[in-house]
Amino acid sequence: METVLGIESSCDETAAALVTSGRVILAQRIASQDDAHRPYGGVVPEIAARAHAERLAPLIAATLADAGMTLSDVDAIAATAGPGLIGGVMVGLVTGKALAMAGDKPLIAINHLEGHALSPRLADASLEFPYLLLLVSGGHCQLLLVEGVGRYRRLATTIDDALGEAFDKTAKMLGLGYPGGPAVERLAAEGDARKVPLPRPLLGSAEPHFSFAGLKSAVLRAKEAGQHADADIAASFQQAAIDCVVDRTRRAIGAAGDVDALVVAGGVAANRTIRAALERLAGEHGMRFVAPPLSLCTDNAAMIAWAGIERLGQSDSLDFAARPRWPLDAAAEPVRGAGVKA
Ligand code: KG4
Ligand code: ZN
Repeated sequence: METVLGIESSCDETAAALVTSGRVILAQRIASQDDAHRPYGGVVPEIAARAHAERLAPLIAATLADAGMTLSDVDAIAATAGPGLIGGVMVGLVTGKALAMAGDKPLIAINHLEGHALSPRLADASLEFPYLLLLVSGGHCQLLLVEGVGRYRRLATTIDDALGEAFDKTAKMLGLGYPGGPAVERLAAEGDARKVPLPRPLLGSAEPHFSFAGLKSAVLRAKEAGQHADADIAASFQQAAIDCVVDRTRRAIGAAGDVDALVVAGGVAANRTIRAALERLAGEHGMRFVAPPLSLCTDNAAMIAWAGIERLGQSDSLDFAARPRWPLDAAAEPVRGAGVKA
């Protein structure tokens, strides 16, 4: 049985976890920076980097103590090396390198997106490759064919905003504060999704991609018109977003060929209404539906440690450079209008 120490610091969660090859999370700690960023309505990279630098080392020490372990009990160090906010990524990666050096352990540099992509296999031992993955987070919105560890074929991505970003911006427009996704979901539960007519960009389109910018602008117009209850706007937004996600995923199921599991991961996968819609879609196609528990959806270090378990035997060089952009499928064509998002 092997144990990997995972380190995550690519956005606004400072996290450490110890995970075994037997899929047991021995200990994990997450320090959220929500309070530090709330006054600004979003993540401020410089504040995030400083907070990671202050908190990460004691957090790792506490995680080891929780499991009654020391560095010598660990078989490898897995640290997020990108993509993400570069200051935070550097803090986590450099810490991982230092521990690897001090403990004479292999360093495994993990792609944060791979952490999300493989996280369903930590929770569900029966999930085998290949599977169709909807990866939806604050910075990414992709459909991927996951053929194996390190083997990802991107079928679709967003040409403008990520889904989590659309939730966060909607939250901001409705004055719900930060972080926005869970707040929109809560308010939507009190609203009527049929009250506010909103567009569903690219619905039914022959091209595979996602688009949420037009929906976001329509939410702003609906809010400014002042005729609708915020809860109805939230519910109508969430439903429009889900209709788009289901339509695009249905198209990908057709394109993916012989795949029997539909999997969702990333922060937005914590949304219960989205999970339910995808579960129905999977059922319609005779596919299994797999979604990690909510705590494994939003950023955490257990998924990074698990990706390290999946990559055990690999050892990255101590001069591995942090990568602000690091696509899972390097061969995928850039898409029109995709802007700066990796
Ligand atoms: O994966 P994650 O924790 O961080 C990134 O790698 O981006 O995803 C964070 C995103 C945020 O945009 C957040 O608003 C969204 O996931 N999110 C949700 C929910 N929980 C988190 N969106 C909709 N409903 C939720 N319950
Ligand atoms: Zn993430």
